[in-house]
Amino acid sequence: MIRLAISKGRILEQAVTALEKVNILCQVNPMNSRRLIIPTNMDNLEIIVIKASDVPVYIDSGKIDLGIVGLDTLMEDDKNNHFRLCDMTISKCKLAVAGKAKTKYFNNMKVATKYPNIAKKYFENIGFQCSILELYGSIELAPVLGLSDFIVDIVETGKTLKENGLRVHDTITKVSSLLIANRVSYKIKRKEINSFVDRIKL
Ligand code: PRP
Repeated sequence: MIRLAISKGRILEQAVTALEKVNILCQVNPMNSRRLIIPTNMDNLEIIVIKASDVPVYIDSGKIDLGIVGLDTLMEDDKNNHFRLCDMTISKCKLAVAGKAKTKYFNNMKVATKYPNIAKKYFENIGFQCSILELYGSIELAPVLGLSDFIVDIVETGKTLKENGLRVHDTITKVSSLLIANRVSYKIKRKEINSFVDRIKL
């Protein structure tokens, strides 16, 4: 049996569609079911829907063999104890620094984000000290209300920034979703996992 974790939210719908294209079908619709473990039409595959930041935790623990998770989540997780098997090329977006058009970077600026590690590293690398304010949603509100000078966040269509009078100052990286595997699972279940990877790459 292979257990595959998929991040909740924007990744889930696109991942389920990608699996459907190769005839891997969920037996219950994960978008409107409250079931946490979802059987599929494959006897040896079940899908587990969890919060994005929990995917690396479960994969690294070995309780779940495979995961579909955004590069943003993997970059924020500094342990990186798993194998990256392939790019699913879904949920494409970018991780960017954004703020009001006229605000310029300065030392000790405040940066609001769901990605404290990435944000801290990024500003250190370009030579600015900043204080990080960790928030969990609607990050764009922080510079609008003056809680922070900048944000580091996902930009997909750019609509949220535009509608709130903000703009991208720098792109940190392009993001898509990757398939990752627990290292031990990959050794023990190599055949099953490789046949799954070959199938989804079709
Ligand atoms: C994400 C992200 C931005 C928005 C960007 O938030 O944090 O707020 O999407 O998308 P856009 O560029 O297409 O407007 P999400 O919808 O995941 O919700 P959250 O703010 O609660 O994290």
